Amino acid sequence: MPRPIILDCDPGTDDALALFLALASPELDVLAVTVAGGNVGLDRTLANALALVALTGSSVPVFAGADRPILGAFKSETRVHGDDGLGGVVLPPGGDPAPGVAADTIRAILRAAPEPVTLVGIAPITNFALALMTEPHLIDNVSEIVLMSGAWGEGNATPAAEFNALSDPEALAVLLASGARIVFATLELTAQALATPAHLAAWRASGTGRCLTAACDIQGSVPLSRRLGGTGAPLHDPCAVAWLLRPDLFTTRPAAVSMDLGPGPGRGRTVIDRWGRTGVPPHALVLETLDSAGFFGLMQERLNRLP
Ligand code: RIB
Ligand code: CA
Repeated sequence: MPRPIILDCDPGTDDALALFLALASPELDVLAVTVAGGNVGLDRTLANALALVALTGSSVPVFAGADRPILGAFKSETRVHGDDGLGGVVLPPGGDPAPGVAADTIRAILRAAPEPVTLVGIAPITNFALALMTEPHLIDNVSEIVLMSGAWGEGNATPAAEFNALSDPEALAVLLASGARIVFATLELTAQALATPAHLAAWRASGTGRCLTAACDIQGSVPLSRRLGGTGAPLHDPCAVAWLLRPDLFTTRPAAVSMDLGPGPGRGRTVIDRWGRTGVPPHALVLETLDSAGFFGLMQERLNRLP
């Protein structure tokens, strides 16, 4: 039976490819796509999510969510994603968002779900936190929470923090305290999903579908990562979805994870206890290694399933 999931995103170039991967995969039943402000403002991330879903031909409902973090001010990342969030790639407009607010929808789905639902967060995870803060018992109907978030070491938004974690560290702290198993695809994991021009050329040569073409155009707009040597751009968000499809592509490590919620330069840092030094039980599961060839093969195969 397909695994029921809610996918929370902020499209976002890598979110676009994660959406395609999820909607192309029969192993997943995407119950809802919820959207937050993140890479760009909510007005753009919502329009992008609607357009991306429509491009796949899916009828999954898309819900608008938080346009700011629980605390602090909203900050975008247009250097990577462009002002429009999709690197200037213009897609046909999608339909209308589903009525209702993301946090309410997440709660309604969890309340009514006949089986536990997996929450997949590839954005600042304000929507999941708001949902679970208002009805904490709903965590009993959450199978696990899979996040692209955090880093063992150096961040990509600040020296200390990864963008999603920094964008709403209080939201991440809420999820860490929820009692759910949280699976982390950190920056060190996603660095192993480094999309090079050669990868994109291979994808382009593999098919002519509109979603494949859009994926290549969108990813092709992303600057090559200076942090990772200037040879490619990491496919952060698809790694979180790929874990659900092909866990065999990954190795993992249980670890205790806590948040730096201070106002200083360490704010938003995920403090990951690799060696159990804190004595805190290892509630989280951190994805450590990725079979990169297998990952890119999965991406290519699934992108070619889309129209
Ligand atoms: O740090 C990478 C994460 O921040 C990804 O989810 C990307 O889309 C941005 O939101
Ligand atoms: Ca994202």
